[in-house]
Amino acid sequence: MENDGIRCLKKFFHTSIVVLLFLQCFNPSLSSGFYNVSFGFGAIGHRVVTRCIESEREALLSFKQGLIDDYNLLSSWGREEHKQDCCKWLGIHCSNRTNHATQLDLGWYHMNEVYSLQQKGQQEYPEYYFQGKMMSPKLIELPHLKYLDLSSVNLTGTQLPDFIGSLSNLRHLGLWDASFGGRIPTQIGNLTHLQFLDLSYNHLVNLENLNSWLPRLSSLTYLDLSENNLSNVHDWMEAVNKLPKLTNLSLFYCSLPSPLIHSSTLFNINSSKSLAHVDLTFNQLTSSSIFVWLSNFSTSLVQLGLSHNNFTGSLPDVIGNMSSLVSLDLSFNQFEGVISERHLSGLSRLRSLSLSSTSLTLNFHSKWVPPFQLDYIILGSCKMGPHFPNWLQTQKSYRRLDISNAGISDILPSWFWEGLSHAPEIDYVDLSNNQIRGTITNSQINFVCFSRKLNLSWNQFEGQVPPLLLKASSSLFLSHNKFSGLFSFLLPVNASHLRLLDLSSNHLHGELPDCWTHFKNLLILDLSDNRFFGRLPTTMGSLLSIQTLNLNNNGFVGELPSSLKNYTSLMVFDVGENKLSGLIPEWLGVGLPHLTILILRSNHFYGSIPSQLCNMGSIQILDFSMNNISGSIPKCLNSLTNLALRGSSSLTISHYYNVSSIGLTLLYDDEASLIWKGIMSKYKSTLGLVKSIHLSSNRLSGEIPSEITDLVGLVSLNLSRNNLTGQITPKIGKLQSLDLLDLSNNQIHGTIPTSLFGISGLGKLDLSNNHLSGKIPMGSQLQTYEPSVFAGNPLLCGIPLQTCSPEETTPAEQPVVKNQDEDNDGFITPGFYVSLGLGFVVGFWGVCGSLIFDRSWRYTYFKLLNGLNDWLYVKVALFRQRRMLVE
Ligand SMILES: *[C@@H]1O[C@H](CO)[C@@H](O)[C@H](O)[C@H]1NC(C)=O
Ligand SMILES: *[C@@H]1O[C@H](CO)[C@@H](O)[C@H](O)[C@H]1NC(C)=O
Ligand SMILES: *[C@@H]1O[C@H](CO)[C@@H](O)[C@H](O)[C@H]1NC(C)=O
Ligand SMILES: *[C@@H]1O[C@H](CO)[C@@H](O)[C@H](O)[C@H]1NC(C)=O
Ligand SMILES: *[C@@H]1O[C@H](CO)[C@@H](O)[C@H](O)[C@H]1NC(C)=O
Ligand SMILES: *[C@@H]1O[C@H](CO)[C@@H](O)[C@H](O)[C@H]1NC(C)=O
Ligand SMILES: *[C@@H]1O[C@H](CO)[C@@H](O)[C@H](O)[C@H]1NC(C)=O
Ligand SMILES: *[C@@H]1O[C@H](CO)[C@@H](O)[C@H](O)[C@H]1NC(C)=O
Ligand SMILES: *[C@@H]1O[C@H](CO)[C@@H](O)[C@H](O)[C@H]1NC(C)=O
Repeated sequence: MENDGIRCLKKFFHTSIVVLLFLQCFNPSLSSGFYNVSFGFGAIGHRVVTRCIESEREALLSFKQGLIDDYNLLSSWGREEHKQDCCKWLGIHCSNRTNHATQLDLGWYHMNEVYSLQQKGQQEYPEYYFQGKMMSPKLIELPHLKYLDLSSVNLTGTQLPDFIGSLSNLRHLGLWDASFGGRIPTQIGNLTHLQFLDLSYNHLVNLENLNSWLPRLSSLTYLDLSENNLSNVHDWMEAVNKLPKLTNLSLFYCSLPSPLIHSSTLFNINSSKSLAHVDLTFNQLTSSSIFVWLSNFSTSLVQLGLSHNNFTGSLPDVIGNMSSLVSLDLSFNQFEGVISERHLSGLSRLRSLSLSSTSLTLNFHSKWVPPFQLDYIILGSCKMGPHFPNWLQTQKSYRRLDISNAGISDILPSWFWEGLSHAPEIDYVDLSNNQIRGTITNSQINFVCFSRKLNLSWNQFEGQVPPLLLKASSSLFLSHNKFSGLFSFLLPVNASHLRLLDLSSNHLHGELPDCWTHFKNLLILDLSDNRFFGRLPTTMGSLLSIQTLNLNNNGFVGELPSSLKNYTSLMVFDVGENKLSGLIPEWLGVGLPHLTILILRSNHFYGSIPSQLCNMGSIQILDFSMNNISGSIPKCLNSLTNLALRGSSSLTISHYYNVSSIGLTLLYDDEASLIWKGIMSKYKSTLGLVKSIHLSSNRLSGEIPSEITDLVGLVSLNLSRNNLTGQITPKIGKLQSLDLLDLSNNQIHGTIPTSLFGISGLGKLDLSNNHLSGKIPMGSQLQTYEPSVFAGNPLLCGIPLQTCSPEETTPAEQPVVKNQDEDNDGFITPGFYVSLGLGFVVGFWGVCGSLIFDRSWRYTYFKLLNGLNDWLYVKVALFRQRRMLVE
């Protein structure tokens, strides 16, 4: 799975550039011109001039035979008279002088360009444009090829053919993500003119023979073997070092071992002196010998990526001598010690510095003026405090700043905002998870440029939220501070750019003003854990795009305004812990097809549960507990289709949203507070796993409908403290995902069905204070339950209560209802994961809870935290999701 992510990343990285080019130069005339060039006939007058050499045409046609051309891109390739000139075929170039085909480019980038033009610029990102059984050996009849690119042609696990070594004129060989398996033929070493070689994202094995072919590619300037397993190639550095002209080296995600170093390796006379771009991220490198080796290139290195390795110790001095370095990424390592001016004062060209999630301490003199002007300052989780880093004052044009979780305990200096007013639009500023104090005034931020994301959460900011702040960003995170005062700051602002506003956990109070038409593009609004009161204003209904509305734990009163029924995109609606009243609106079940979380907990709602709510096909968490709801539980609950599915598609409940017209996409994970086994906790990293219905502490009556047992995805079912009657249905055992079942404090009678004890993951059961009778059935888990689980049922007997007297007869035991699908993964039930979330410290590290589950998500998250290129990685995830939808 993680392969996909990175492969797509690569596509996106390129495509994002292509898209920009398109934006600049796409126009109809160009498009038709391109079309003509690609598919035209090359007619001069009436005579068809055919430059193409016949044997080459035949070779190409038989190559085409081996491909499945699902997108019909090779329609210009054919034997028909008007298609004779293969030099005019898509992807082919011929030499003017000799008419030999010199270029065959069916690589993904090129095909994507062509295809997008055909689609009038509309972007689509198919994973493959072509599939094929193998690379046709007829290619050998194109000996003049200089440029061969079959990247992302799915060659379905075949081996790179030996004859590749015969294409001796090749300069460019692009075969990334071509699904090659097996070994690399040593014949490839015959390509002594080759300058560019990209074999990344294949499934190549036995790369131990690297030294038998790579050093012979003496013209190579660009080498990419990323995402192939090089864990056994201990002499990779020796091989690389024998390439005198190499400038670009990418070996990320290769399980690279720390190299064996001989002095001959380090001081090879033939070795490149001009390495400019080195990307060794996501490996397990530990050895400082890497730095000794890199010191050979200290004058030429421009980009150095070593993040996500196992480097330890202090930062080597050699970094400071890399007088050309533009981008340095050392994040996610275990470097420790202090970085001072000495380490960085030689880096005058530096534009991007990423040291986040290392254990480095940054300690600069408060008057230090760095020799560089950075674009990207990514220093999250470094130790920079307690004082606010003064040197940032000298950085006038950055686009990304991450100094989150950096141990800063200081007043925010006023120059900080001035610094932001000089930059052009910025991508993000993240000061979260520090102890930064102070107030923010309108005048301070009057000239601040627009930031796509501004994160000041988990600090000590106080005073009013200045209205202009709402205009300064499209995603504004101000939660967990001490902002106070009335909410009137909303009034004068037209914040049409604002997509996300998180003011939760502050000291804000007052009534919400009725001016929400100014916020019509809001997607996410979180006002939870404040002291707002009064009615919900009618104009809140104008937040027509809203996806998450969280008003939990305030003092709101009155009914839910009916204008909220216009929230057709709503996914999360949490108004729990307020003083709202009225009937539960029927419209909640009508026209809100995406509603996933609905929390009305702890209010004064009354009346019965409208049957319309059974239409909530996406619902995953339904919590109406602690209200005055009466009537019976609707039988139609079994049409809550998402709850009738076992498992979850995602660990989190996430939204992707655009914050700019050029497609900058951010990711937001929803958070909700849930009562789980009696403890209220906030869930975020595992929220997607929770599937629950909580109706406890109401006045519900009647029987528990047996239809509820169709909701086999339920992880938690809490119907306690009502007036429910009837018996527990024997079908209860169908709820195999249950981790929590609480039916206590009702009027339930009859016996306890044996099937209940066939629910292997049931962690918490409470049947106390009912009218249950008979013998408690023996089950595998029985002994683990406390007597309190069954207490308050005077007619119940058996372990763990007192034993039944002999005259009490027990009905014949019902068989355990066996679950139909046997893909049950043992004790690791969703509930198990959810329990992990208990008492989770939500915040910077909150996300790490999910990282243990899936490497690809870990990768996404790390990169998000890391900051560099975060949006690209987000897009990767998005792309993958889309693709999964299509499949
Ligand atoms: C080819 O170009 C001509 C004019 O140069 C134009 O009229 C025609 O529509 C183009 N053909 C296609 C298929 O775009
Ligand atoms: C090939 O021919 C085209 C037009 O006929 C010309 O624009 C191009 O410069 C030529 N290329 C070379 C390498 O001679
Ligand atoms: C490549 O093609 C094979 C055979 O058609 C198919 O099984 C495989 O899923 C394809 N690979 C991808 C990543 O789509
Ligand atoms: C290509 O390389 C192989 C060994 O890797 C060698 O035996 C063969 O002679 C070479 N062929 C040419 C044409 O140089
Ligand atoms: C790489 O290959 C080694 C040995 O062949 C294997 O132990 C290891 O699990 C592989 N690593 C990955 C990430 O596949
Ligand atoms: C090679 O690396 C340099 C320096 O980082 C970079 O500017 C250039 O674009 C890279 N070349 C390719 C083909 O990626
Ligand atoms: C690298 O670090 C990771 C996480 O800290 C650890 O699991 C792994 O064993 C380390 N690898 C090596 C080769 O030290
Ligand atoms: C809700 O939508 C209806 C029509 O879809 C519209 O007439 C009404 O004005 C909207 N209400 C609000 C408060 O926007
Ligand atoms: C519970 O239901 C019974 C009858 O079924 C009724 O007598 C009793 O008043 C109800 N209790 C409450 C608290 O509603």
